[in-house]
Amino acid sequence: MKRYLSKLAGGVAVCAIMTGAAGAVSAADSSVEVLHWWTSGGEASALNVLKEDLESNGVAWKDMPVAGGGGEQAMTVLRARVTAGNAPTAVQMLGFDIQDWAAEGALADLNRVAAKEGWDEVVPAALQRFAKHDGKWISAPVNVHSTNWVWANKKIFDELGIAQPASWDELVAALDKIKGAGYTAVAHGGQPWQDATIFDAVVMSVGGPEFYKKAFVDLDPDALGSDQMKEAFDRMATLRSYVDDNFSGRDWNLASAMVIEGKAGVQFMGDWAKGEFLKAGQKPEEDFLCFRFPGTQGTVTFNSDQFAMFSVGEEGQAAQVKLASSIMAPSFQSAFNVVKGSVPARTDISDEAFDACGKKGMKELSEANASGKLYGSMAHGHAAPAAVKNGIYDVVTAHFNGEFDSETAVEELVSAVEVAQ
Ligand code: GAL
Repeated sequence: MKRYLSKLAGGVAVCAIMTGAAGAVSAADSSVEVLHWWTSGGEASALNVLKEDLESNGVAWKDMPVAGGGGEQAMTVLRARVTAGNAPTAVQMLGFDIQDWAAEGALADLNRVAAKEGWDEVVPAALQRFAKHDGKWISAPVNVHSTNWVWANKKIFDELGIAQPASWDELVAALDKIKGAGYTAVAHGGQPWQDATIFDAVVMSVGGPEFYKKAFVDLDPDALGSDQMKEAFDRMATLRSYVDDNFSGRDWNLASAMVIEGKAGVQFMGDWAKGEFLKAGQKPEEDFLCFRFPGTQGTVTFNSDQFAMFSVGEEGQAAQVKLASSIMAPSFQSAFNVVKGSVPARTDISDEAFDACGKKGMKELSEANASGKLYGSMAHGHAAPAAVKNGIYDVVTAHFNGEFDSETAVEELVSAVEVAQ
């Protein structure tokens, strides 16, 4: 059943800035400062939906962009801002990082607006686990992304007669064909978070959801040190042989551009990549294909971008609550995610406005949730705390760059995770 969206959050422009009168609200009351890492073309277009929505609600937007996919640099800047006693109003944040800031007592209490708007009833438990701390709502979830996707150039697939690969062997055969035809088979940016994004999918493809959970959620040393994990590293080494010579350090959106421009066959990336294809005017199933990393069909590794709200003085609270309320509005959840490539963070949003990949993403997310095959992405901070994640990044990247073989990588992984806990 398709439910239609109720009210338009930005439908009525409310001017919150009053001057002169007693009880007046100052300009500071009606602005929010937002720290985020959405600087690529697709990301910026999506963020614009939020900016415009707020501005139509009389709330000015102070932009604080910190480039760098996955948000590592943004988190460093945030730490400096908070240490200096100057926290932004809201910060784009992932999973365990939100809980860490909440545990430090730095986040606001959104329970009033959450209760008024019934967030408990519409936000899935997998997201509430990160958006609430000690019974308090502390952040507003914008979306659900998932990391086990392949983005393929349809023209190259058609030209070479490649069917959508459904297993590891079929994937390797497809990559061989693409490489053999003179294209770059895998468009990749050699940055730790991108290497780790592929590793999420590869580990899932080797061992399935139970193994993934044992390794990345339970941090079980037996799983981390297993033959299956060695197989996962072997597969990473295989994939490494399909990237071009200039992959090192490349930003993820430039890797997407290689597929968009027909220079490369596929990119393994979360569905924020779709935002780049759309921004370039491409259409799913006509210009590009989206399918699950072969061997992970039926399972979803997710992350959810949330805006963690920092404690602000009384004068900043009204605008902060408006920001939270705009983010949670059904109309916004649809409009934003259509552009971003993700799916809504609410369960009551129609898929009507979404394209073929978006519809597939929404359906697969709810099926994976129902069948217990929905797991937090390790690479994007939803499986284990930041220290563990960073330890895993180091090993995965060093191995991907040929610093050691798969056997050593497994040993390094076990000790990196142990040290980080
Ligand atoms: C992810 C984030 C996405 C996207 C991506 C690349 O961590 O969840 O929204 O921005 O980084 O920047």
